[in-house]
Amino acid sequence: MEVRAPASSANLGPGYDVFAIALKEPEDRLELRTGDSSSLKVEISMRGARTVPLGAERNAAGAVALKMALDLGVRSHISMVLTKRVPIGVGLGSSAASSAAAAFAMNECFRLGLGAPELVRYAARGEFVSSGEEHYDNVAASLLGGFTTVRTKPVLEVVRFSPPASLRVCLVTPKVELPERKTEYARSIIPEHVKLEKLVRNTAAAASIVAGFAKKDIGLIGRGMEDEVVEPARAGMIPGYSRVKKMALQAGAAGVCISGAGPTVLALVDDSKVRPAEVLKEMMRSFRLEGVQAVGYSSSVGRGARRVGL
Ligand code: HSE
Repeated sequence: MEVRAPASSANLGPGYDVFAIALKEPEDRLELRTGDSSSLKVEISMRGARTVPLGAERNAAGAVALKMALDLGVRSHISMVLTKRVPIGVGLGSSAASSAAAAFAMNECFRLGLGAPELVRYAARGEFVSSGEEHYDNVAASLLGGFTTVRTKPVLEVVRFSPPASLRVCLVTPKVELPERKTEYARSIIPEHVKLEKLVRNTAAAASIVAGFAKKDIGLIGRGMEDEVVEPARAGMIPGYSRVKKMALQAGAAGVCISGAGPTVLALVDDSKVRPAEVLKEMMRSFRLEGVQAVGYSSSVGRGARRVGL
């Protein structure tokens, strides 16, 4: 069985660990084969990445498959070939794409009958392996596509929204030195306590994003992408971030934020009003003016994990 799962961009500003969008591209590919069914064994081999650990327990996709097999009584040799297309460590949900692909493939292949929340929960296991914490935002979008919100307590609830038709996404990744376990580091520098007034403004901003997706109003979404808690703590990891954000907004972006734990910067654009290529050009130019090399592309909100081929 071959499965694909997309890159994603988490947080959208105030929705730390709650919001994410799936991106149309790139996508990770996972081929899953089953063999001898007398005992459980999970093997994984990689294409397109050297830095990802290969031991099943230490690899995001392997850990997800192993946990699902152990919990749900799967006894089989499982061999997975993971082709990495989502770049690693840049804030585009790379480990989530692999984890979502593994959860989806296991569910399909062994007819486990799991629904979205259970799949999200299992896929989050892969995030634990790669960042030391189970966060559910990227895996929710990578599994379900569109814009997703996830709540973990009292029960895990995931809601999916389709994007407004003219919504486009510009993504620019600066080449910057980052700590080895970047996401773990980026999570460690967030303040533990937040002033009530900031909480109120962030909650209002997050509500605006959800309302914008519900009403298909890109202006409402973009204006909600202001975060007073996580983004200020992380902006220092991205040289030139404030200039890039300002220039993208001046070029007509609806909203700008750090994509996940960064360093990729995301701008949302209403294609019926502004050309995404113009916004992208401004973002690239701003990084250049800061003396920072960067690569970028524009895309749209994409589908979630799915089966391809046989
Ligand atoms: N919500 C997570 C974070 C996403 O910002 O740390 C990491 O990909």
